[in-house]
Amino acid sequence: MKILILEDAAAAAERAAEIIAAQVTAKPGSVLGLATGGTMEAVYERLIALHRAGSASFAGASSFNLDEYVGLAGDHPCSYRRYMAEKLFDQIDIAPGAAHLPMGEAADPEAEAARYEAAIVAAGDIDLQLLGLGLNGHIGFNEPTSSLTSITRLKTLERSTREANSRYFPDGDEPPRLAITMGIGTIMRAREVLLVATGAAKARAVAQVIEGPVSARWPGSVLQMHRHATLVLDRAAASEL
Ligand code: GLP
Repeated sequence: MKILILEDAAAAAERAAEIIAAQVTAKPGSVLGLATGGTMEAVYERLIALHRAGSASFAGASSFNLDEYVGLAGDHPCSYRRYMAEKLFDQIDIAPGAAHLPMGEAADPEAEAARYEAAIVAAGDIDLQLLGLGLNGHIGFNEPTSSLTSITRLKTLERSTREANSRYFPDGDEPPRLAITMGIGTIMRAREVLLVATGAAKARAVAQVIEGPVSARWPGSVLQMHRHATLVLDRAAASEL
């Protein structure tokens, strides 16, 4: 793993955005794997700035997001589809139809997960997979004890994950219990992986992922086995290394 420790969250977001911009510049037809969460908001802001400055075009690229809540329609304000439209897709030149997310409102979520995995395979797998990190070490919505060879499927979210993500839901509304997520095996097939973690709250998970044993207990630790994994951290997230 390549570990980059930047001064603060803004510098980490800038570096991550530069790596993504370099990817689509080197290979205009890149298949990107994208992530959601608070950490990614700053990354996408910087990426949009690079796009506006003429340093990143997505016109030939396609993307697959890691995950989506089960039961939320794409236009639900808390769906990841809506997050991605607002925070990235509507502000860059990615072709309509080239940006994929699992359909959370699918009548048969298991079939939808299988369809999504097959679509990733048909696209030739992911060139660069962007990842955040859950407080419990999850990547995508692969919660602790997820199989390290899993593919896209339904996962039940841990209480701690639902609590952490409840800040995005209006008062009284709780995040769904189920999500469709790329598997750890799906993520590991990506030719390059870029994980971004910032803030002191992530320090324990970061230490486990980098210095702990490879274990389904801290799913991100599997990245120790990836040939081209880069972890972009700020000082606070790196403070327990
Ligand atoms: C959600 C997403 C994950 C993301 C995590 C971290 O759980 N499904 O892909 O890594 O949030 O979020 P944050 O950046 O808000 O800490």
